[in-house]
Amino acid sequence: MKLTARRGSPIKGEAVIPGDKSCSHRALILGAMAGGETRISGLLESADVMATVGALRSFGVAVEAGEDRWLVRGSSWRPPDEPVDCGNSGTSVRLLMGTVAGMPGIHATFVGDSSLSGRPMRRVTAPLQRMGATIEGEDGLPITVKGASLGGIEHRNLPASAQVKSAILLAGLGTAAPVTIVEPIQSRDHTEIMLRQFGCDVMQEGDGIRLGLERVIHGCDIDIAADPSSAAFPLVAAAIVPGSDVLVRGLLVNPLRTGLYEVLEEMGAEIELSGERIQSGEIVADVRVRHAPLQPCNVGPEAIPTMIDEIPALAVACAFADGESVIDGLGELRTKESDRLGAIVAGLTACGAVALADGDCLRIFGRGGAAGNASIATRGDHRIAMAFLALGLASEGPIEVDGAEMIDTSFPGFLEVMKSIGADIG
Ligand code: S3P
Repeated sequence: MKLTARRGSPIKGEAVIPGDKSCSHRALILGAMAGGETRISGLLESADVMATVGALRSFGVAVEAGEDRWLVRGSSWRPPDEPVDCGNSGTSVRLLMGTVAGMPGIHATFVGDSSLSGRPMRRVTAPLQRMGATIEGEDGLPITVKGASLGGIEHRNLPASAQVKSAILLAGLGTAAPVTIVEPIQSRDHTEIMLRQFGCDVMQEGDGIRLGLERVIHGCDIDIAADPSSAAFPLVAAAIVPGSDVLVRGLLVNPLRTGLYEVLEEMGAEIELSGERIQSGEIVADVRVRHAPLQPCNVGPEAIPTMIDEIPALAVACAFADGESVIDGLGELRTKESDRLGAIVAGLTACGAVALADGDCLRIFGRGGAAGNASIATRGDHRIAMAFLALGLASEGPIEVDGAEMIDTSFPGFLEVMKSIGADIG
C-alpha cells in the first residue's frame, strides 16, 4: 500500500496516541507468568503486540480482549503444538525466548518474517546458554528453546539492549541463583519497573540491576501510557511545519525514552510538559510541541539508547534545521526492522536533502527544508514509512512511501490520527 503526504496548512490539535509498545509486550508476558489475573488498559493493539498475544495463547495462556481492557490469566503454560510465529516483532521473540528458557518442561521453536529471521539473536541466546538453557539454532531464526532449571549470571549488557536485559530478567524469575546485569550505558527500564508492580524485588545498584529474593510475581492492574516512539511522528511534524501546535496527553516520559524530545528542545522546538504523574510505576505527562526554526544538533553515542527508535524522526527534523547535525553511535540501527541507517540516508537523499553515513555516524546538512517530490522505499520498515510521511508534510513537493501497511506494526490508526490534526496524508 502506498501513502502520500503533502504540505498544507499547519497541523494543530490533540493527537491521540496508542499505548507504548514496549510496556504492552511486558504487561502481557508478565501477566502470563504471574499467578492470578492481570488487567491491562491502554494496551497497544498493533501487529507486533498481537504477535505476543498469539504466542502466549499458543502456550495455553488465556489472553482475552474486554470492552476497555485486556485480561490475562497467568501460570498455565504448556508447550505449543506448532512453531511460535513472532512476525516482525523482535521484542516478542527475544523476551519470550528468555521466558521459556527458565520454565522446565516448556519448549518451543520460534520463527518470524524475513526481516525478523535475519536479526541477531545470539546476543540473547548466548547469555541464556550461560545460565544453563538448552538452545538450538544459529544467530537468526528459527531457534528452539528448551526450558530448564537455570543457574545465575552476571551479564555486561553491551551494546545496550533492553531486550537482552529483559530476556535475562525473565529467565531469572525461575531460579533463586544470583542474576545481575551490568549496564555501562543504561537501556530502557520498563521490565524492572513493571516487575516491581507485579511484586518482584529488582534492585538498581550503581550501573547494576539485580534480581532480589522475591521472584514470585502476582497479577495486577496495569495502565499503559501513550508511546513516545509513535508520538514522535506527529510531534516532529509539528516541529517542522510552520504554524503547527500539537498536544499529546498521557505520554510516557520515562527519561530513558525521551532523548528525541530533549534534542528537539535543544534544537529550538517549543516543547511544554505539564501534568506530570505516575501511572503504573512510569512517569507520564501531557506534551505540547509548537513549530519554531530549528538549529542543528550534535548527539553522542551515550544518548542513543534513549532515542534508538526515534532516529528516523530526528533525522527528518535535522533536514529542516539550518546547518550540519551529527548523530553518532548508530551501529545498532543497522540491526533493526531494516538497515535504518541506510534507509534514512537513501530516503533523505531522494528528498533532496544532503545526508551521509560515516561509519556509525549520521551527518545531515540541513538547509531549513527539503525539496520532496520523492518516492521512498521503506524496506518494510514502519518507522521509515512514518518518518518520511512526516517529512512530506513540510517539504516543497509531495512524498510517497511504499509498504505503508507495515505502519500497523507499531501505530494502528496512524493515518486517522494524522488526519485528525489536519495533516494531508492519503
Ligand atoms: C525494545 C528495545 C529496543 C527497541 C525496540 C523495543 C524493548 O531494542 O529498539 O523497538 O521493548 O525492549 P534493543 O533492545 O535491541 O535495543
